[in-house]
Amino acid sequence: MAHEKKIYECSECGFESLKWLGKCPQCESWNLFVEKNIGTLIKNRHKKIVNQPISIFESNNILEKSKRISTGVAEFDRVVGGGVIQGAAILIGGEPGIGKSTLVIQIAGLWAKNNGDVLYVHGEESFHQVRERAQRINAIQQNLFMSSSTDILEIIANIETNRYSLIIIDSIQSVSNPEINSLPGSITQVRECTYELVQKAKQLNIPMIIVGHITKEGYIAGPKVLEHIVDTVLYFEGEGKQSLRVLRAIKNRFGSTHEIGVFEMCCEGLKEITDPSAIFLQERPTGVSGSIVFPMIGGSRPLLVEIQSLVGKSRSPQPRRGVMGLNNQRVSLLIAILEKKAEIYLSDRDIFVNVAGGVFVEETAVDLPVVISMLSSFWDSPLGSDWIAFGEVGLAGEIRRVNSTRIRLNEITKFGFKTCIIPRIESSDLPEKSKNLRIISLDNIRELTQLFENREKSYE
Ligand code: TYD
Ligand code: MG
Repeated sequence: MAHEKKIYECSECGFESLKWLGKCPQCESWNLFVEKNIGTLIKNRHKKIVNQPISIFESNNILEKSKRISTGVAEFDRVVGGGVIQGAAILIGGEPGIGKSTLVIQIAGLWAKNNGDVLYVHGEESFHQVRERAQRINAIQQNLFMSSSTDILEIIANIETNRYSLIIIDSIQSVSNPEINSLPGSITQVRECTYELVQKAKQLNIPMIIVGHITKEGYIAGPKVLEHIVDTVLYFEGEGKQSLRVLRAIKNRFGSTHEIGVFEMCCEGLKEITDPSAIFLQERPTGVSGSIVFPMIGGSRPLLVEIQSLVGKSRSPQPRRGVMGLNNQRVSLLIAILEKKAEIYLSDRDIFVNVAGGVFVEETAVDLPVVISMLSSFWDSPLGSDWIAFGEVGLAGEIRRVNSTRIRLNEITKFGFKTCIIPRIESSDLPEKSKNLRIISLDNIRELTQLFENREKSYE
């Protein structure tokens, strides 16, 4: 027995409804609901085993297929977990103009040179534009094949020729299925096309890189709704005018999501930054209050970033709070701890906290530098430019130990920092190299405020 099942879907945002609606309750656009056939519901279907389960013990030949291949861009390889796996679908999201096309053409050129034929589908730009860019960054290769196709069926037919060892789609918003009744770039088109492409990549065991635009809200343009379809989601970020770019994994079925890749946009494309600490600290001002350096662990390598705070008297009854590069709630929590446990009243202050360089810090080890930078700005008491700190702050105002203390201290000594504020640890736990560092170990927030009080401080 078969029942036809139909639903209606907003082609702008993907909202689904059992009946047709004039106005979408989610994105509030008008007249965009289209009928969507979600297939036939067959009752009493005969159950058959199509895919035989395999023993995990005898699966070596399958694992052989999932070997990692280097793209030639080491920072990219690091973020995806040490190279690309056969059949993996990787989505690169980012704001328009951030450098996604530059990154993928660079990968395409190196892959074509080292690994074999690449199919680059450039529906978004003309052949001349892409060629001009490829020429500028030295990516012209015999094995790099360009297709301006925007029709998903034609792209699939191209992939099915099975001659390419890497497929690049730039961008998914320019691909559409003429059989689907909605505009290219709409949620319905983007989702359906990605699904078909990923299925094909998996079936033929070819890796695929899909570029997707994302707006600041991360909503209209697509990548958010694609995250569950692909294996890996990377975000390419950076401050518009600065040349520094950070590649981060948001989801990774084949590796950790802690690694970051750092690039600099130059006139010959993206340059890999193998020692990012130096570049993150490059434009750091000296002798100003509210700034301290934090040694973060970005995956397998340490990275020195500057934490900045601005704490000033508020003119409005509702003080403003702004947090960039950190978890907003975590910063609110730290402000509450400072008020309650150190009796520093901040409720009439505007507070802004920022991680310079456009990196996002998720570690709790950043708590202590955030608190220090807020206090330094509050008291307008600059710290030396060779001061650095890390440690977690607990709800009782205690300063707690964090992981990778040795790795962090080693990186600190490499860059010539002199004074390091950390949670209390045994001196035997300190690495040999850190003997020249002045280590200030603290138990709680009160000891930290005393440290400031003992220095020359000037109240506002
Ligand atoms: P692009 O890769 O086109 O961005 P996206 O695909 O994310 O929209 O890069 C756009 C910017 O990068 C553009 O403003 C110019 C700059 N750019 C360089 O500075 N150097 C280069 O070698 C290239 C190719 C681009
Ligand atoms: Mg582009």
